Amino acid sequence: MTGKKVIAIYPGSFDPVTFGHLDILRRSLELFDTVIAAILVNKEKQPLFSPEERLEMMQEAIGDFGPRVETIYFDGLLVEAARQHNANVIIRGIRAVSDYEYELQMALMNRKLAPDMETVFLVPDQKYSYLSSRLVKEVFSRGCTPECLVPDAVARRLVKKYNLPQ
Ligand code: PNS
Repeated sequence: MTGKKVIAIYPGSFDPVTFGHLDILRRSLELFDTVIAAILVNKEKQPLFSPEERLEMMQEAIGDFGPRVETIYFDGLLVEAARQHNANVIIRGIRAVSDYEYELQMALMNRKLAPDMETVFLVPDQKYSYLSSRLVKEVFSRGCTPECLVPDAVARRLVKKYNLPQ
């Protein structure tokens, strides 16, 4: 069967990318032909890593994912970035019920702005259900460097950022 290739966009701050994000990306690749990891440049809150650093970390992390994953920066509206890249699916990860309210609001706002675009929620592996970039930064900033939360290259950058002993 030949059909139109489905391009999905996976947006986020990715400050920094975690194993939870990578789990969602891997699952997305099972469903869609191409997945674009889209890194938000400007957020109200100051990110720890620059957009360039976040993109580099993402690219390092998806090294073995193959050519069906792309990485971009975006600023402004997500649906506009999606349109520019011919994506008509938005992927978001939902770890727990507590994520749902915010995600639902975003999905409905995005639908208002772009009715032809669908948001698909994916659930990461249970072992990542507590994992967030915010908590990773909180823990590393206080000198603790637990394993298996972020790729090694990201952990090294966190260690450097917080001037922790190598
Ligand atoms: O990783 P995050 O911080 O939870 O990602 C949030 C993100 C980037 C998906 C969201 O803030 C976003 O899409 N921002 C772009 C602005 C936009 O399109 N707003 C209208 C839709 S709510």
